[in-house]
Amino acid sequence: MSATLAYEPQGDSSPLTVAVTSGKGGVGKSQLVASLAVILSQDGHRPLVVDADIGCGDLDILFDVRPQVDLRSVLSGAVPPEEAVTRANLGDAEIGFIPAPAANRDGSELTRGEQMGVLQAVDQVGWRYRSVLVDTGAGVSRNPMFFAAAADRVLVVTTPEPTSMQDAYAAIKVLHQAHGVGRFELVVNQARNLRDGKGVYARLASVVDRFLPVELGLIGVLPKDERVERAVMSRQPAAYAYPVSPYAHAVRGIARRLMTDGQDRPGGQLRWFTTRPVGDAVDGQEPTGEQR
Ligand SMILES: Nc1ncnc2c1ncn2[C@@H]1O[C@H](COP(=O)(O)OP(=O)(O)OP(=O)(O)O)[C@@H](O)[C@H]1O
Ligand SMILES: [Mg+2]
Repeated sequence: MSATLAYEPQGDSSPLTVAVTSGKGGVGKSQLVASLAVILSQDGHRPLVVDADIGCGDLDILFDVRPQVDLRSVLSGAVPPEEAVTRANLGDAEIGFIPAPAANRDGSELTRGEQMGVLQAVDQVGWRYRSVLVDTGAGVSRNPMFFAAAADRVLVVTTPEPTSMQDAYAAIKVLHQAHGVGRFELVVNQARNLRDGKGVYARLASVVDRFLPVELGLIGVLPKDERVERAVMSRQPAAYAYPVSPYAHAVRGIARRLMTDGQDRPGGQLRWFTTRPVGDAVDGQEPTGEQR
């Protein structure tokens, strides 16, 4: 049976919920979630990590834990939500972790009732934490969009590849049109440098500005860093394995912005990088394709 956590309640304030999502897969969400969790924990922001990438959750590998209980057992009523919270200990960092269910013959889509069940389970255990990080999995299908829309802060991860940017746009569009999300924070991962990352942001922001009535901020640029791959091979979050790497430094910046800005939740006026670079828009055209 998994160890359960016994944090004391933190007054009336509910934790800040942060979803990490993307249109395209493999852009670095899980590594970002794992590394953010390490840094938030080290900074005293007690994180609960929820792996909502049903069927393809990888965070158990990055935390190097072998959970016995997952969300499916909670949804079936076999165990109470508290028992699905596994403890990931990484040095001084202690992270609460709810693993994703493995794929089964029914595939990975949850019914609306099951989605609500996941939310309720997290509500039930989440008050013990100061922050909740949700890895939504990739794509614009119902699960990732639902879990992203439920969060206070929606981080959309893209790489500089145009395919990844186009799919990030699709996710933003679906989250706005189907779920009314009006504010997003872009993470550019695998950037060659800060300028490269800001250019990616500028291009995407200019298209979003033109076609969607939403806010898109830039919360961070993460460099391409081969230590990230090395960390994965050793089953560790990069920010834990290589705490002084450029990647860890950049994730620390995102953690700081998450916990110090915009605590007033939806509708809050705090924004980062409000001055968007101009003159860098390439297309001026709404992306085409099935989801757009
Ligand atoms: N900044 C980076 N520099 C170098 N490699 C990276 C970086 N970020 C992620 N990677 C590598 O990219 C791959 C995908 O990362 P990860 O599993 O975190 O993506 P994901 O978005 O969670 O994927 P999926 O959509 O399949 O869940 C991993 O092999 C990881 O090591
Ligand atoms: Mg992943």
